[in-house]
Amino acid sequence: MQKINIAQGPENVTRLILGCMRMPSLSVEDASKMIQTAYDLGINFYDHATCYGDGEAEKRFGDAISLTSVKREDIFIQSKCGIRTDKKIFDWRRENILNSVNEILARLKTEYLDVLLLHRPDLLFDPEQVAEAFDELEKSGKVRSFGVSNTMPMQIELLKKYVKQPLKINQLQLSLEQSQLIDQDLYMNNKTTDMSIMRDGGALDYCRLNDITIQAWSPLQHGMFKGMFIDNPEFPELNKVLQELADKYGATKAAISIAWILRHPAKMQVIAGTMNPVHLTEMAEADKIELTHEEWYQLYLSSGKFLP
Ligand SMILES: NC(=O)c1ccc[n+]([C@@H]2O[C@H](COP(=O)([O-])OP(=O)(O)OC[C@H]3O[C@@H](n4cnc5c(N)ncnc54)[C@H](OP(=O)(O)O)[C@@H]3O)[C@@H](O)[C@H]2O)c1
Repeated sequence: MQKINIAQGPENVTRLILGCMRMPSLSVEDASKMIQTAYDLGINFYDHATCYGDGEAEKRFGDAISLTSVKREDIFIQSKCGIRTDKKIFDWRRENILNSVNEILARLKTEYLDVLLLHRPDLLFDPEQVAEAFDELEKSGKVRSFGVSNTMPMQIELLKKYVKQPLKINQLQLSLEQSQLIDQDLYMNNKTTDMSIMRDGGALDYCRLNDITIQAWSPLQHGMFKGMFIDNPEFPELNKVLQELADKYGATKAAISIAWILRHPAKMQVIAGTMNPVHLTEMAEADKIELTHEEWYQLYLSSGKFLP
């Protein structure tokens, strides 16, 4: 499995990440099979968040990992905090960040997180409080690297004014169908389509300019958790092209969809959310596929875009 270095962050991390949002649906035994399958495929990075199953995903992982051959020091565990489903608020206050990390570590049964991300911007966030929390977490050794998720460039700049630690990851939604990260650049200044609307403050180019690794979430979904576009009759042209390329590369349509993201020169990581070992094994083939320039465009256009 190919590896990348995150600038001023963890080194030798795999381009594929196992996302554990859907892990609460598994028994401890099945969760251990999922963790082991990912590890045996060469995947060394696991993504969590406090809100996945209200802590159940982290708990299942913490219980399951002892049933595997995986050693803590051989993998990277990342979690996110800041979404408080109990109170229906986003919360980047110092107290909440510190409490969240203590709870995450207890559920995951680990001494440290390789990466902590702030999940979704708290509209009332005070960067000085974030800075204090990060200093304490770094000093205590509970968190080794820090980053953000779903965060605008200017919000990152505001954080950077106070936070000393490098913020070198931004976890963002990207799939062949949910490609707004890319679309706005294509249609810039074009009044004939809403795809020209800048919805994220230029996050893609900002991250590339600042050596921030983008982690693409929900790589197979359309809309926001509306289901997969693969084998979905709403996307006939996309499925036709996916199938042609799947046949060419001897892979599945899911693997081609992941290869499309990996082909982008921003050198993103992709977070796979499957909880089926067979599906993960098929998707891992994406790591070996290098789509051509032409194939990348062919896929992109088949998902409903046009060249202006
Ligand atoms: N930062 C954020 O705000 C944010 C938001 C959402 C998610 N995330 C992260 O991103 C990760 C991935 O999100 P996701 O689960 O929505 O991503 P996804 O990989 O696009 O979707 C996974 C879903 O597709 C299904 N699926 C059906 N057929 C499949 C096939 N042939 N191959 C692969 N999957 C297939 C899976 O079911 P099976 O299990 O049956 O395969 C699973 O339900 C999450 O686990 C989480 O870590 C982050």
